[in-house]
Amino acid sequence: MSTSSQPRIFITGATGELGALVLDQLLATVASGEIAVGVRVADDDRARKLAAKGVQVRVADYDRPETLATAFAGVERLLFISSNSLDRRPTQHRALIDAAVQARVGFVAYTSLLHADVSPLGLAADHRATEAMLAASGLPYALLRNGWYTENYMASVAPALAHHAFVGSARDGRISSASRADYAAAAAAVVRSNDDLAGRVFELAGDTAYTLSELAQELSHQSAETVPYVDLPMAEYRSALVGAGLPADVAALLADSDAGAAEGALFDEGRQLGALLGRPTTPLASSIAETLRALGR
Ligand SMILES: NC(=O)c1ccc[n+]([C@@H]2O[C@H](COP(=O)([O-])OP(=O)(O)OC[C@H]3O[C@@H](n4cnc5c(N)ncnc54)[C@H](OP(=O)(O)O)[C@@H]3O)[C@@H](O)[C@H]2O)c1
Repeated sequence: MSTSSQPRIFITGATGELGALVLDQLLATVASGEIAVGVRVADDDRARKLAAKGVQVRVADYDRPETLATAFAGVERLLFISSNSLDRRPTQHRALIDAAVQARVGFVAYTSLLHADVSPLGLAADHRATEAMLAASGLPYALLRNGWYTENYMASVAPALAHHAFVGSARDGRISSASRADYAAAAAAVVRSNDDLAGRVFELAGDTAYTLSELAQELSHQSAETVPYVDLPMAEYRSALVGAGLPADVAALLADSDAGAAEGALFDEGRQLGALLGRPTTPLASSIAETLRALGR
């Protein structure tokens, strides 16, 4: 699992969907020997698939602080992908930042949340806490404040077609989402950059915003089905998500996020993501088309 040169770039969460996309973006321009990735389990299939790409695979478990400083040894640039744990995240992130300090990592890019400093979303609290830890750590760092993944809504396309209604709680809030691959490309650009990006705060969002009514119209148009948007009060939307089989905490998080979207929490018109990418962000219509193709429609 090792390569001859010493890796200088490290990606955490490389087994996740965002991390995998970042790695593939990086490998297009950076030699594999310059990259190390973090996994929780060193000898499973997922780790072996990563090693087959020529990158160094190291155990970096946010729940086992002793693995982290060792994993970060010699790393110059660290992409810190936020944990997906809803209950242990601040403790996990504390451990990661302490380890980065101990290993004297030269630069950290952290995947935060759009407008985390003022966002009303329940999700924002952990990101605010992590941003404060980074500020107090003395580490040089940049914040990648990612907006909503379009994929979050694409997960609702199949049920919307089945029930002839796209259900949400965002009223007429405008949502500037972008594809996960767009955010991954931006993260790759920042972590491989030779520019001094310490201190930068990137508010990353799609170029074009839409309401959920507009999303439903586009879905209706492309699928040739009538799929109206049906707005529900937050509690009813949460119950509908639980009824559809989501765990209660995830349903609560999504309903809270839609309620935040109604207040504009997922909207941004700064176009910093497109600027980082040097191209337009992925339009909603393309994401819908891709989702329908995957559903065989
Ligand atoms: N902006 C948005 O719309 C949005 C949406 C979803 C998520 N997010 C955030 O963005 C992050 C990346 O998104 P994603 O789509 O890549 O999520 P994901 O597919 O769920 O990936 C999460 C990654 O975190 C890793 N992880 C979890 N617990 C860990 C631990 N104790 N130690 C080390 N690694 C651990 C996972 O490892 P395993 O594979 O071993 O579990 C996985 O690699 C998420 O974790 C979440 O914080 C943002």
